[in-house]
Amino acid sequence: MRSGIINTYKEMYDVLDGESVITLQEGNTPLLLAENISRMLGKVNVYLKYEGLNPTGSFKDRGMTMAVTKAVQSGSKAIICASTGNTSASAAAYAAKANIKCFVLIPNNKIAVGKLAQAIMYGATILPVEGNFDDALRLVRDIAEEGRVTLVNSVNPHRLLGQRSGAYEVCDQLEKKELDYLSIPVGNAGNISAYWAGFNDYYRIGKIKKLPKMLGFQAEGAAPIVENSIVENPETVATAIRIGNPASWDKAVAARNESKGAVEKVTDQEILEAQRLLASMEGIFVEPASAASLAGVIKLAKEDYFPSGSNIVCILTGNGLKDTEIVTSNNKLKPYSVNIKEIKEAIYRSLGGNG
Ligand code: F0G
Repeated sequence: MRSGIINTYKEMYDVLDGESVITLQEGNTPLLLAENISRMLGKVNVYLKYEGLNPTGSFKDRGMTMAVTKAVQSGSKAIICASTGNTSASAAAYAAKANIKCFVLIPNNKIAVGKLAQAIMYGATILPVEGNFDDALRLVRDIAEEGRVTLVNSVNPHRLLGQRSGAYEVCDQLEKKELDYLSIPVGNAGNISAYWAGFNDYYRIGKIKKLPKMLGFQAEGAAPIVENSIVENPETVATAIRIGNPASWDKAVAARNESKGAVEKVTDQEILEAQRLLASMEGIFVEPASAASLAGVIKLAKEDYFPSGSNIVCILTGNGLKDTEIVTSNNKLKPYSVNIKEIKEAIYRSLGGNG
C-alpha cells in the first residue's frame, strides 16, 4: 500500500500531526534482487532500489513531499529551485498539488527533454540560464534569501529529512538480511547524506544491527569530491549529476569516512554500459545518472573489492523514460518493407540456426 513517506514513517517524523500533508503517495518503491547481474559478478548479492517508480519518476519526491508540506505550513505561496531536471519536475508537481507557484532555474539545453516536459506540464515557471547547475544554485540561494519564495533544493533541511525514508525502506525491505554496502550516484551530494543519516536513525533505534558502508559514485567529468577540488566546467552524459561544486560536499565526505566506504568516479562509457545491463539483464530502464551506482559496483567487483556473500543495494535514482535521446540516437533503426519473408528472415537470423 502506498500512503506516502510521511504517513508511512510517522514514528520517524515527529511532525505534522493534524497538518495537511502534501503527498503524491511517493515511496514504497521496489527492491529487487538482480539475479542475472549478481550471477555475472559472482559471489555478491546485488539488490536494486528502483526509485524511478516514484510519482514523478525520481527519488526527489521523497524530499519534496516534506519540503512542500513544510513550505505550505509556514505560509509560503511559492517555491524555487535550481535543477539538472529531476528536482524541477518534482518541485513543479508538488507545487501543483499544493496549489502554490513554482520557479525552476535550469542549465539551458542541458536537461533531459522528458524532465523539461514534466516541469512544463506541471505548470512551473521555467527560467533557463546560460550557465550550469552550480551557477543556477547560487542564483536561487540569493533570491530565496529575500524571503518571498522558499528554496526546495537539498540545502533545505526538510528535503533531506524526507529522503531519509529511502534508507528506512531499504532496511525494512531487506527484513533480516544485513546490508553491507549502499551504492549511490552523487551529484549535489544530498541523497548520499540523507541515506547515511537514515541508516543512523535506524541504527540508533535498534532497527538494524550494523551500518552499511556507503559507496558514492560521480561521473568522471564531474567528480569534485573524488578529485577534492571544484570542477568549473563539469561534463558528463549523465546530465543529472553534472555538478562541479556539490552543496552537501562535507556531508558526503563524512558519510564516506564514518562508514569506511568510498567515493569514486566512473566513466561515461561505464555508466552507459551499466544502464544497458540493467535494462537488458534485469528489465529495469534507468536514466544514465542512476546507472552510476551499478557502474561503480561493477568496477569495484572487478577489483575484488567485495568480500564473498556481500549484500549490496544500488539506488537507481531516476526513470529511463525521462532521458531517451541518448538511447535512440545511439541505436538508429532502419525500417523493413512490409514483406513477411524479410521480417521472418530477420527474426530467424536473430534466433540462430537456419530456420
Ligand atoms: N540521480 C539522479 C537521477 C538525479 O537527478 C540526481 C540529482 C542524483 C542522482 C544525485 O543526487 O544531487 O542528491 O547527489 N539531481 C538534482 C536535480 C541535482 O536537480 O534534479 P544528489
